[in-house]
Amino acid sequence: MRFVNIAILVFFFLNIPLLASYIAVCQGCHGKNFQRKALGRSKIVKNLKKKEIVARLNYFKTSSSIMKSYASSLSDKQINQIANVFGK
Ligand code: HEC
Repeated sequence: MRFVNIAILVFFFLNIPLLASYIAVCQGCHGKNFQRKALGRSKIVKNLKKKEIVARLNYFKTSSSIMKSYASSLSDKQINQIANVFGK
């Protein structure tokens, strides 16, 4: 039982650098914890619901927003991960 808990912990910490590697570019505009208004005009992403983050990122993939290229480079799995970590 104890071993299982440690295995889960190790897995959890290994996942953080993976997430960090593809959100580094996002943080440049949105802030480390997505707490900033990107370019002074986005919504504050950390105040959005998980569902809203997923919907916005999928919408951006086909939009003419500045977000298009960033959203297009994300997989569904990465979008869900961002929503789970930073959304409400
Ligand atoms: C060049 C700066 C910039 C970068 C880099 C950037 N964003 Fe954005 N983001 C914006 C702006 C500006 C908006 C507002 C969109 C609009 O008005 O078209 C936005 C909107 C959003 C929204 C929805 C909030 C809203 O205002 O509707 C989410 C979620 C989001 N970005 C996530 C991300 C993620 C995840 C990444 C990295 C893969 C990222 N952004 C990279 C500038 C940026």
